[in-house]
Amino acid sequence: MIAIQRSYAVEKNDFTKAGEVSSNIKKIMKQVGVEPEIIRRVSVAAYESEMNIIIHSYGGTIDFMITPEYIKLVACDRGPGIENIELAMKKGYSTAPQNVREMGFGAGMGLPNIKRCSDEFIIESEYKSHTKLVLVFKQSM
Ligand SMILES: Nc1ncnc2c1ncn2[C@@H]1O[C@H](COP(=O)(O)OP(=O)(O)OP(=O)(O)O)[C@@H](O)[C@H]1O
Ligand SMILES: [Mg+2]
Repeated sequence: MIAIQRSYAVEKNDFTKAGEVSSNIKKIMKQVGVEPEIIRRVSVAAYESEMNIIIHSYGGTIDFMITPEYIKLVACDRGPGIENIELAMKKGYSTAPQNVREMGFGAGMGLPNIKRCSDEFIIESEYKSHTKLVLVFKQSM
């Protein structure tokens, strides 16, 4: 049984809306009474996924689902894809441009944090095509 499902568009370089999707997801989790520790982990993963789409991609979507057993986030974008996933996953690796670093992003910690926060982490990327993250968080409701 699917309890709640939402789909959000995330636009390239739209810093005025940065964090809106993850805030919305956090609000829904609070409303339905998800455990605070899970809310924290899902919120971090949603925020970092949202920022990566804004900063590094041509735009994409974040799909969010809550069932009694798990919470799932799917972040998918229209490219340009990641050339070397292993490198991108390393703590401290970032290709963020100077102007984005000046806004406080570009520590190269987003993907490692997403992985750390999720119970299941799948990254799929094809260079010059797309990037997709599938993240699952187990619930003991
Ligand atoms: N959706 C994406 N599309 C294309 N490249 C990406 C995407 N997400 C991440 N990357 C690449 O992987 C690198 C590492 O991502 P990560 O989120 O760990 O760090 P960051 O975004 O550079 O900095 P931070 O998240 O700490 O602000 C990015 O700098 C970028 O090169
Ligand atoms: Mg990032």
